[in-house]
Formats: sequence, structure tokens, C-alpha cells
Amino acid sequence: MKKIRVNLGKRSYDINIASGMFEGLTEEVSKITDKKKTFIITDSNVNKLYSNTIEEVLRKKSVYAGKYAFHAGEKHKNLATIEAGYHAIVKSELDRGSVIAALGGGVCGDLAGFIAATYMRGIKFVQIPTTLLAMVDSSVGGKTGVDLNEGKNLIGAFWQPAAVFVDTKVLETLPGRELLCGFAEVVKYGMISDEKFFEYLENNIDGIKQKKCEVYEYIIGKCCSIKADIVSQDERENSSRAILNFGHTFGHAIETVSSYSKYRHGEAVAIGMLMACELGVILGSIDSTVKRRLQKLLQSLSLQEKAEGLNPKSILDAMSRDKKVKNGKINFIIPDTKIGQVKILNGVDNNLLLRAIETQL
Ligand code: NAD
Ligand code: GLY
Repeated sequence: MKKIRVNLGKRSYDINIASGMFEGLTEEVSKITDKKKTFIITDSNVNKLYSNTIEEVLRKKSVYAGKYAFHAGEKHKNLATIEAGYHAIVKSELDRGSVIAALGGGVCGDLAGFIAATYMRGIKFVQIPTTLLAMVDSSVGGKTGVDLNEGKNLIGAFWQPAAVFVDTKVLETLPGRELLCGFAEVVKYGMISDEKFFEYLENNIDGIKQKKCEVYEYIIGKCCSIKADIVSQDERENSSRAILNFGHTFGHAIETVSSYSKYRHGEAVAIGMLMACELGVILGSIDSTVKRRLQKLLQSLSLQEKAEGLNPKSILDAMSRDKKVKNGKINFIIPDTKIGQVKILNGVDNNLLLRAIETQL
């Protein structure tokens, strides 16, 4: 089992990565859950696939108190689902010493993490991510929360998990479209901090498509290490953590204007990264070869490059309600000179933004 430490003083924790480890999970989980009440939060799809296995693990080393399975999908990442979740855990009599297990993709991790952050002013939770996107990104770093109709992730809290348990074997059941979404975030890490890793992805498209275990384990470990480093340096996104939002200001707006239904988060991020590159080209911080290389990698992974039919002005409006707006100016992350390097901009002329958006519609 590979362990990656997220160093956050008293809130430090391990990301445990293995394949087929739900068996071996018992010992690791018990360090956190021993004799405590535990409760699973999962979505309706993952519930059918994996909650029995996790329930068995929890029954061995804790007082298993029940589960709450919400309707799968971003549309349900909202306050109504949170409220129903609170009622379920009150009914199961969870107390301040209890532990929630978030079993699912990023939607589940964000919802369950927010419930853990706010129930009785905060109880422990562990992340058991089941999508590639959640394994490489959302289960690590402590961002939790839900969407409003007005904007993505507008309600939330920073609440670090007590541990993250990744079992790459569960990716075998993940639908192809969802796997691709994870690759958008994987490519992001190459773009923001590691050109060599970007090259590795370019050179291993076959291994990725053939779902080679060693390729996936390397990719997941690499992404978690990069994220762990970034989060350890700036837990609450006062400065440098913002680079993890590369492609996300555009991407969140794409998700919002399409009512969280047409585009998956990863798909919107892929298109958003291209918009951010175009902005970089317009502002002269990169030449067009950087964007072309990103475009080629996304194409070879079969990720879409355009959000056809969306209104560019609506995207701009949605961006102005983004969390990344500071003093009325929107923060953007754009590539700087080369792949693996980005810079943060505060405030960009709307006409230039519209030009960048329009190239990908
Ligand atoms: P998701 O949680 O909706 O999962 C995608 C789909 O896959 C769902 O239908 C789910 O039921 C299904 N599924 C999950 N695991 C499965 C498995 N092993 N086998 C079969 N089906 C499975 O979506 P996602 O892409 O994992 O996450 C997207 C969310 O993550 C967005 O809400 C985004 O805002 C959030 N996010 C959060 C952070 C963070 O730092 N907190 C970072 C990135 C993304
Ligand atoms: N996905 C953005 C972050 O974790 O900061």
C-alpha cells in the first residue's frame, strides 16, 4: 500500500492507495473508528456496488450505525440533500465522537464532508473515493460543500478528512464517461506544476486506454502527491492553492449555465482549461503551442473541447458570481511561458474574456 502524507499540523492525514484493499482496509480504518459509531454516506449507484463491503469492514472495528444514500448526480449536490442527510444521522444517533465514511465520487465527498463539518459543529470523516476524479482531487484537501442554482460550490467549509482510502479496483465499474472526467483533473496537474508528468501522459495514452494497473497507480499517486504538497503549503487558499482552480472559473460557469446537467464537472474543466489557455495566448503569457499541446492531449483522451450552444455572455455573468471573485474582480489562473507553470491574475477585461470563451463554443 502506498501512503502519501498531507502535512497540516494537527490536521495531517494519510492518503492510502492500493488495489483490492477493501480487505486490508479494516486495520487502517480501525485506527480512526475503533469502538466509535460509524455511518456511511453514499450515492444511489455506489450504494448498490460497494456499500455492503464497506459496511462489513466497519462492522468489524466500530459500532456501525447505518447509512444514507442520496440520488446520484451533481443536481443533488444541494442543501435539500444535506438536510435529508442531517435527519438520517440524527435518527442514527451519531454523536460528537462518531465518524462518517464518504463512499463515492466527488459529489458524495463534498456533501458528506459538509455534513461532517457542520453536524454538532464538526465530527470526523474519512474519504473512500470511487471515481478517478475523487481519487486524484476532490477527496484530498478538505474542500466540502454544495451548489446553489446561482453558482457552483457557493456554500461550503474547509474540513479535512481523517484519512483517505483509495482502492483503484473500484474503477473497473466506473462508466467510461466518468473515467474521462477524472482525466481532465489529471491533465490539470501536469499543466499547473509538472511538465514531465504531462509528457508521461502524452506518452502513455495506450496504457491509459488499456487500463493498465501500473499506469493508473502511478497517475493517482503522482496527482495525490502534487495536491498534498499544494494543500500543505496553503490549506485555505490564501494564495498558491488557487492554482488548483486552473480551468475551473470557466468550467464552473459552464456547469452553472447548463443547470448542472449537460456537462460533467471534468468535462467542463477540460473546456475551461482550453479557455484559460486561449486567454494566456491573448494576453501573451504563452504562445499557441502550449494550447495546441493541451488540445492534442485532451483529444487523444477523447475529452470534448467545445461547449457548443452556450451563450458566452451567460458564461461571463456566471463567472462574476464565482467564489474566486475578490473585490469585484475575478481571479484567473493562466499558463505562464510553458506547460507546468501558471500565474494568477486578478481582473481581466470582459472583452478579452469573451474572446477566450467564444473560441471554445
Ligand atoms: P460524481 O460523484 O457525480 O460521480 C460520477 C458518477 O459515477 C455518479 O453517477 C456515481 O454514482 C458514479 N460512480 C461513482 N463511483 C463509481 C464506481 N466505482 N462505479 C460505478 N459508478 C460509480 O462525480 P465526480 O466526477 O466524482 O465528482 C464531481 C464533483 O466533485 C463535482 O461536484 C465537483 O465540484 C467536485 N469536486 C470537488 C473538489 C474538492 O476539492 N472538493 C475537487 C474537484 C471536484
Ligand atoms: N479542486 C480545487 C482545490 O482543491 O483547491
